[in-house]
Amino acid sequence: MQFKPTIIALLGIATAAVAQAQGAWPTKPITLVVPFAAGGPTDVVARTLGAAMTKSLGQTIVVENKLGAGGTVAANYVAKAAPDGYTFFIHHNGMATAPALYRKLAFDPLKDFEFVSQAVEVPMTMLARKDFPANNLQEMVAYIKANQSKINLANAGLGAVSQLCGMMFQRAIGVQVTEVPFQGTAPAMNALLGGQVDVLCDQTTQTVPQIKAGNVKLYGVTTKSRVKVLPNAPTLAEQGLKDFEVVVWHGIYAPKGTPKPVLDKMNAAVRTALKDPDVIKRMDELGAEIVPDAGNTPEALHAWLKAEIDKWGPVIKAGGKFAD
Ligand code: MLT
Repeated sequence: MQFKPTIIALLGIATAAVAQAQGAWPTKPITLVVPFAAGGPTDVVARTLGAAMTKSLGQTIVVENKLGAGGTVAANYVAKAAPDGYTFFIHHNGMATAPALYRKLAFDPLKDFEFVSQAVEVPMTMLARKDFPANNLQEMVAYIKANQSKINLANAGLGAVSQLCGMMFQRAIGVQVTEVPFQGTAPAMNALLGGQVDVLCDQTTQTVPQIKAGNVKLYGVTTKSRVKVLPNAPTLAEQGLKDFEVVVWHGIYAPKGTPKPVLDKMNAAVRTALKDPDVIKRMDELGAEIVPDAGNTPEALHAWLKAEIDKWGPVIKAGGKFAD
């Protein structure tokens, strides 16, 4: 008997929370968690979309960079966050590669999240420091092979696409060099610009301005075909690295249990942002492709993530690089 008032009070709070989530949402700023460093490729996409979504939602999208363990610290944080409609997550292929890379992953990418929408796809570029003694991919490969023990390859940790691309590159050319992990490719790029590391595979959303300014050497793009933003850059595959392909894709997620009406409104806000002329222009300048509208459903993101987990699992297991 004495529990009754407490139960009634709790029910009242829960009902109010659901009503607020479903009706007036959003009534306060929304956090969009980014799993890598500020200023890097994922952050650029998040902030560009966030600015556009702020316009249509009438509330600020606050980007929060939660760093560590190749994106898994942030994913675990969001998986355990309150499903109140005020925490969302943007992540890339790392959602699909983490289950194969981490033996003790504390979240299940397919079960512990709600799915909002896909967003953009981004090519990667194979780069070296400006004074690297190689002027094309053949020379680069020959130099790396001859100096394996001295080469430092930067990445953003196990689970980062820079790590995935670097791993595939080493395997394709038959070398094993020293990998230097950062908490995002923004600091990795700084190390490349400063000459503290030699090689970095990174997304055009960060690398295009550095390539165009001549601050780094470019050896090719990781897509099947050449990309519009760097028309003179050959693909790695056309230069002899057969079937080499890494395309980065971004999805938006929420903690499991986030109310459906909120997810629907967030999905609509993402779709509206992807049609915003400022977003289109910025993504175009940085080589990112906006995912066509039909692909931007929660179901499409779920199906895509599942297919990517199935695709990358065996590739990663063959690579033999794991963490606990
Ligand atoms: C970043 O945003 O820093 C990159 O996406 C990290 C990565 O290489 O995956």
